[in-house]
Amino acid sequence: MTDEKQVQVPVLRPRRLRRTPALRRMVAETAVVPSSLVLPVFVREGLDEPRPISSMPGVVQHSRDSLKAAVNEAAELGLGGVMLFGIPEHKDATGSGGIDPAGVLNLAITDAVAEVGDQLTVMSDLCLDEFTDHGHCGLLTPDGEVDNDQTLAAYADMALAQAAAGVDMVGPSGMMDGQVAVVRQALDAAGHSHVSIMAYSAKYASAFFGPFREAVDSSLVGDRRTYQQDPANAIEGVREVLLDVEQGADIVMVKPALAYLDVVRRVRDAVDVPVAAYNISGEYSMVEAAAANGWIDREAAILETLTSIRRAGADVVLTYWASEAARLLRP
Ligand code: PBG
Repeated sequence: MTDEKQVQVPVLRPRRLRRTPALRRMVAETAVVPSSLVLPVFVREGLDEPRPISSMPGVVQHSRDSLKAAVNEAAELGLGGVMLFGIPEHKDATGSGGIDPAGVLNLAITDAVAEVGDQLTVMSDLCLDEFTDHGHCGLLTPDGEVDNDQTLAAYADMALAQAAAGVDMVGPSGMMDGQVAVVRQALDAAGHSHVSIMAYSAKYASAFFGPFREAVDSSLVGDRRTYQQDPANAIEGVREVLLDVEQGADIVMVKPALAYLDVVRRVRDAVDVPVAAYNISGEYSMVEAAAANGWIDREAAILETLTSIRRAGADVVLTYWASEAARLLRP
């Protein structure tokens, strides 16, 4: 032993590949690209101009006109698609506004397809919760339970209305058992076999949906735990996804994304269809709130968030930052 400090000189030095931006770029395992991003868009009946959503700073409820501008921008930025949500002026027990061909969502589909149908995949939320006065994703029994099989019939009608409006891809998001099979069958029987299905397959009863409830003026009292999944369950998430693939889902989704990145990975490893993940309202608003307080570097946090979802295995990411991220990613 000497007094001099003996430093073991490393032979293997991973830092060598981090030395310059060009090196880091060359060895990056994961890329966020605009074509894999989908922008969720809210359209509200009866608006003359966009209305801010206070729980989601920077996101608005669109008027029919401002929707057109938003989808054109999305197309110019090279996004993969837009996911449309409609907020009707009047709600009822059966959510009839979702099925009405003149309902806000169906009109928004036709508008979006007319504007950008050849450049973007136009998708629509296929769920009753924006249209029901009780705010649940399905029809209720006299006892107030969500009635799975009655709801399936309503989803079939809603799918047909959306297909008639010209949609490219429907997104059944209500977590009713058998919903993908019923939607596929209804579409095929009516000559819409080209309309694809992005199934909200592993969707969890999440507290992080909170800000979305304001975005769609939700009337929900209580929770959705009898149909959305328990956050404790990952194996069950894979089961839900496999059932949807069997029923004809073209793309399967895990939702939310960030608290469920392990589920995204398991699902990516379990299926041979594209996997989507939904970077939801609460995930958006947490970053926005922290950034507004000066606690976090907003743009870096956005790109890191989207990178982490892609790294976990998502091929497609639905995110309220889609257009902004596409701008940030411009070389
Ligand atoms: C149901 C639906 C919800 C979201 C998308 N589709 C709400 C829910 O299930 O409670 C949430 C999206 C978000 O939080 O960003 N139609």
